[in-house]
Amino acid sequence: MSKTPEAPEKTRADAAPPDPTPEERRFDHSRRRFLITATSVVGAVGVASAAAPFIGSMTPSREAVANAQPVDIDISKIKPAELITVIWRHKPVWVLRRTPHQLGILPSMDPELKDPRNRQPQQPPNMPKGVYAYWRSIKKEYLVLVGICTHLGCIPDYVPQPGGSLGPQWRGGFHCPCHGSMYDFAGRVLIGSPAPLNLPVPPYHYLSDTVIRVGSIGGAHKEENWAPEIW
Ligand code: FES
Repeated sequence: MSKTPEAPEKTRADAAPPDPTPEERRFDHSRRRFLITATSVVGAVGVASAAAPFIGSMTPSREAVANAQPVDIDISKIKPAELITVIWRHKPVWVLRRTPHQLGILPSMDPELKDPRNRQPQQPPNMPKGVYAYWRSIKKEYLVLVGICTHLGCIPDYVPQPGGSLGPQWRGGFHCPCHGSMYDFAGRVLIGSPAPLNLPVPPYHYLSDTVIRVGSIGGAHKEENWAPEIW
């Protein structure tokens, strides 16, 4: 009779590890929680330190914030035919108090102009439209312009006298000394000038009869970020 082989006896090494006691389970759980928390804190500190220079560089400086602010201009002391300049966003902004003569020649300038009807968006949407579009200003007497030539950015001269060194055809307005662009008393560019566009009108509105705020359209329009094609 053959002998049935006996199952080998289990040694201590083969035996399954004993279940952890409740005490060991509690310890293990706390340890895991500590490790996860510690890793997350280290990661968060790392991200924060790495991001700090970028966040710092994205925060506008005090000077930048100041430069972006609107500028209020008292126009009560400007005499007829006088032009004053203020700086807004590092740009020269002109306010010209136009005389009846300067206003009177504007409607007849059309044949001499590249864009007499303001087809190009060189003025904000709160400018007069239709028959008074040639004013390019909220009140016809006070013209507000950014005094930067739309050719290559020189600052034109205010030349109100007709004729003179600019020739018999010159009726007064603004002349750019760099390459000779000419603009009328509404800042509209004359045909033959290298400048492609009219001088820009900045966003502005009246705070009172004598104070203009440049940098904001105000009223129902709040397009403070409006900008022309070329400054
Ligand atoms: S920059 Fe004014 S004409 Fe060239």
